[in-house]
Amino acid sequence: MSERLEDIAAAMVTPGQGILAADESSGTIKKRFDTIGLESTADSRRDYREMMFRAEDAMKNCISGVILYDETLRQKAADGTPLAEIIKAAGAVPGIKVDAGAKPMAGFDGETITEGLDGLRERLAEYHGLGARFAKWRGVISISKDLPSWGAVKQNAQALARYAALCQEAGIVPIVEPEVLMDGQPGDHTIDRCYEVTNWVLKTVFDELYDARVSLEGMILKPNMIIDGKNARKASREEVAEKTVRCLKATVPAAVPGIAFLSGGQSDEEATAHLSIMNANFDLPWALTFSYGRALQAAALKTWGGKKDNVAAAQRAFTHRARMNSLAATGEWKKELEAA
Ligand code: 13P
Repeated sequence: MSERLEDIAAAMVTPGQGILAADESSGTIKKRFDTIGLESTADSRRDYREMMFRAEDAMKNCISGVILYDETLRQKAADGTPLAEIIKAAGAVPGIKVDAGAKPMAGFDGETITEGLDGLRERLAEYHGLGARFAKWRGVISISKDLPSWGAVKQNAQALARYAALCQEAGIVPIVEPEVLMDGQPGDHTIDRCYEVTNWVLKTVFDELYDARVSLEGMILKPNMIIDGKNARKASREEVAEKTVRCLKATVPAAVPGIAFLSGGQSDEEATAHLSIMNANFDLPWALTFSYGRALQAAALKTWGGKKDNVAAAQRAFTHRARMNSLAATGEWKKELEAA
C-alpha cells in the first residue's frame, strides 16, 4: 500500500466498506464482558478480538480498517501471529486509539476534556513502527439544558486539531471524532437541539483544524448522527438521515475524503438503516460510511459468550452485521435482508 496520507484515507473509506471500532479501553471492554458474565483478562480480550479479525468474509469484503487499543496492537493471536498482521492480511488497515480518555474538565462542571497530547509525537512514532496507519481521538460533548459551554467545545476542538496535526506529521491519518452524545444525561434533548449543537461543534472543529494546518485530504471525520437524545427518541429514520446530511453539508468541507459515523447507542438496525437512507437518497461530496463499535459487535459478543465452541456462530453474527452495514455504505440495505 502507498504511504501517502490521501491514499490511506481513501483506503479507509473503500466503497462498500467501513471501519470496525474495536478500541474499547480496558474499562469499557470490562463493562461489555460483564454483560456476558466473562472476566476481562488479556487472554479473553485477545480471544474475543481474534474471533472478529479472523471472520474472513467480513474482514475482506466489508471492513476497510480496524481501530485497536494499545494492548491489542501489541498482542499476538493464539498461534503467534500478531493481530495487526491478521488485519492486514485481510486487506484492512490497522489503526490505533491514541487519546487517554475524556476527563472531568477543571472549572467546567459536567463537561470533559480529552487528554493524551503529552508525549503523543513519540507514541505515534512507535505506533507507526507497530503497523498503525491511522489513529483515533474522541472528544466528548454532552447536551443538557445549559451545556455544552463554549469553553468545552473550543478546548475539545483544539485538542482534536493538535492531535490531528501530530498524526499527519507521523504519516498517520487522523480520525477526528467529536462526539455529541445521544446517551448523555439527561438524554431528553430533541433532534433539533442535537442539530444545533453538532453544527456548532463541527464548525468549531474545522476552524481549529484550519488554524492547526491540518490537511483535510488526509483525515477522516467520525461524527454522531443528528438524532434525539436516548430518552426522547421519536424522529423517523428519514428525518434523522435528512437532518444529518444537512448538518454535514453545512459544516464539512468537500476536501474531506470520508465521513465514518459512530453508532453512539443506536440499535444495530437503526445505525444501519440511517446510513443506508443517507447514501441512497442524497448526493454527497464525501464517502459516507460506518465506524461502529457497539452496532457491529453487540450480536457477535452475545453469541460468543466467551466460549470457544461459539466462535463460528459469533463470526457468522459479526459477518451478518458487517454485511448489512456494507450494503448501507452504498445505500442498498433493505429491512428484508436482516432476516437472511
Ligand atoms: P460506538 O459505535 O459504539 O459509538 O463506538 C464507536 C467509537 O469508536 C466511539 O469512540
